[in-house]
This record gives sequence, C-alpha cells and structure tokens, in this order.
Amino acid sequence: MHEVKVNLGERSYVVTIGRGAISQIGQIVTSVRHPSMAVVVSNPTVARLYGDEVLSSLSDAGIRGELVVVAAGERSKTLATVRRVYDALLDLKVDRSGAVVALGGGVIGDLAGFAAATYMRGIDFYQVPTTLLAQVDASVGGKTGVDLPQGKNLIGAFHQPRAVVIDTLTLRTLPARELRCGLAEVIKHGIIYDQEFFWQLEQRARHLLSRCEDDLYHAVCRSVEIKRDVVQADERESGLRAILNFGHTIGHAVEVVTGYGKYRHGEAVAIGMVAEAFIAEREGYAEEPVAEVVAQAIAKMRLPVKMDASVSPDSLLRAIELDKKARAGEIRLALPTKIGRCDVFTVSRDAICAALEFANSAAL
Ligand code: NAD
Ligand code: GLY
Repeated sequence: MHEVKVNLGERSYVVTIGRGAISQIGQIVTSVRHPSMAVVVSNPTVARLYGDEVLSSLSDAGIRGELVVVAAGERSKTLATVRRVYDALLDLKVDRSGAVVALGGGVIGDLAGFAAATYMRGIDFYQVPTTLLAQVDASVGGKTGVDLPQGKNLIGAFHQPRAVVIDTLTLRTLPARELRCGLAEVIKHGIIYDQEFFWQLEQRARHLLSRCEDDLYHAVCRSVEIKRDVVQADERESGLRAILNFGHTIGHAVEVVTGYGKYRHGEAVAIGMVAEAFIAEREGYAEEPVAEVVAQAIAKMRLPVKMDASVSPDSLLRAIELDKKARAGEIRLALPTKIGRCDVFTVSRDAICAALEFANSAAL
C-alpha cells in the first residue's frame, strides 16, 4: 500500500492506494473516528460490483453500514439527487456523528460529498473512488458540488474527506471509455506540473490503455502526489490550484452546450486541453510549442482532440462567460507555458473564438 498524506492542518488526511485496498475501508474509518453509522452512497453498477465488499469491511470493523443507491451519470449530479440522499440520511436517522462513504466515480464523489458537507452543517465523509478519473483527481482536494442546467459545478462546497481509499483493482471492471477519460486527467497532471511524468505517459500510452497494472498504479500514485502538492499549497483556489483547471474552462462549456450527454467529462477536458494549448501558443504565453505536443498525447490515449462540428463557437463562448472561473466579466484560463508548467492568464474573447474555430476545423 502506498500512502499519500494531504497536510491541511486539522483537515489533513491520508490517501491509501493499493491493490485490494477497498477491503481496508472499515479499518481506515475506525482509525480516523468511529461513526455512529456509515451510509455508503453509490450507483447501481458500482453498488453491484463493490457494495458488499465495502459493507462487510465496515461490519468487520464494528460499523453499521447502509447502502443508498442513486442513478448513474452526470445528469444525476443535481440538487434533486442530493435531496434524495438527504431523505435517505433522515430515514436512516443519521446524526452528526454519522459518516458518508462515496463509492463510485466523480459524480458520486461530488454529490455525496456535497450532501455530507451540508447535511446537519457537515458530517464526516470518505472517498472510495472506483473510476480512474476519480482516483487521480476528483476524490482528492475536497471540491464537492452539483451542476445546474446553466453550468457545471455551480453549486458546491469545499469539504475535505477524512480519508481516501483507492483500490486500483477496481479499474479491471471499468469500461474502456471511462479508463480513457481518466487518462485525460492523468496527462493534464503531466502537462501542468511534471514534464518527466508527461513523457513517461506518452511512451507508455499503449500499456496504460491495455490496463497494465503497474503503469496504472504508477499513474495513480504520481497524480495523487501532484494533486496533493497543489491542494496543500492552495486549498481554496486563491492562486496555484487554478492550474488544475487547464482544459476545464472550454471543457465545461462543451459539456454544458452538449447537454451533459454527448461527451464524458474526461473527453470534454481532452478537447478543452487541445483548444487551450492552442491559445497558449497562439497568444504567446507558451515559451515552447505545446499545441501539437498536447494534441498528439491526447490522440495517443484515443481521446477526442476536437468537438463535433455541430457545436457552435458562439454557444460555447456564452457558456464560458457563465463559468464560475470568470471574474468581473474577464475570462481567465490556466494555460501551459511549457510542458510541465502552467499559469493563469486573462484571455480575450477574440482569442477564445479563434481557438474554438480552430478546434472545430478539420485541420486536426
Ligand atoms: P462517473 O462518476 O459518471 O463514472 C463513470 C461511469 O463509470 C459510471 O456510469 C459508473 O457507473 C461507472 N463505474 C464507476 N466505477 C466503475 C468500476 N470500477 N467498474 C465499472 N463501472 C464503473 O464519471 P467520472 O469520470 O468518474 O467523474 C466525472 C465527474 O467528476 C464530473 O462530474 C466532474 O465534474 C467530476 N470531477 C470532480 C473533481 C473534483 O475535484 N471534485 C475533479 C474532476 C472531475
Ligand atoms: N479538479 C480541479 C480541482 O480540484 O481543483
């Protein structure tokens, strides 16, 4: 087992990464604080695959566990679903010493985390991420929330988990498309923070895509360390943490405009990274060529590099202007200055329009 400590004062916690780590959840929860009860929030697929293992680990540790199942998918990351979780917590008579365990991908982590952040003004929360995307990104750092039709993650709270338990063996059952989505966020970590990691990933693309366990384990461990470094330096995103948003401003707009259905989050971020790397280079923020390098790495991971031609740049720009990362009408983007380094810049609408036209063009 590999342990990564996230040092955030009284909100510090440990991320445990290992093959078979899911069976340790009960022991890990009791080592933090024995809850009056643990409510495991999951979706039907993940509950069927891993629900019993989590419940029996909790029971072995002397914790009463109950499973609450909500519908799968980004379209259920809503206030209505959170309301269903609150109702279940109340039906189960969960008090302030109860805990929520999020078992699933980033959708479950974000919405169960938000329910835990707000139920009775906040109860303990544990993350057991089962998608690559949630293991390398969403489960660490304490961002929780839900979407509105107007935009992604517009309602939310910072609520750090008490512990994160990552079992890389759960990736064996993950659909190939979801695995590729996780690889988008893994590559992002290389682009924004660690040049050597980026080139390793590039070289090992075939092995990662064929689920080589050692490659995936290394990709998860290094990604969690990078995310830990960034979150420790800037927990509430007043500065450095914004670099984690590389690819996400355009990516979120792609998700909103296409109704959270056509592209998975990781695919939209992949498209966003290509367009934003183009902006970095075209607007002179990048010290070295990055656009082609980023596009090639993304294509190697069999992720989309451009959006469907039916998505209009105008509608994307409108969605970008509503993004919560915009400030006083200014659009700020996290852009790579070189592979392994990233910074935040104010970018004109014209520059974004040019990138969106480019991203829509057949040239890629
Ligand atoms: P997801 O949660 O929708 O999961 C994808 C699918 O994989 C689901 O249908 C699920 O049933 C299935 N699945 C999950 N684990 C499985 C397994 N082991 N075996 C078989 N099937 C499995 O998608 P995601 O990509 O994990 O998460 C995307 C969400 O994460 C977005 O809402 C995004 O905004 C959010 N996110 C949050 C943060 C954060 O910091 N809070 C960071 C990145 C992304
Ligand atoms: N996924 C962006 C962040 O955690 O800040």
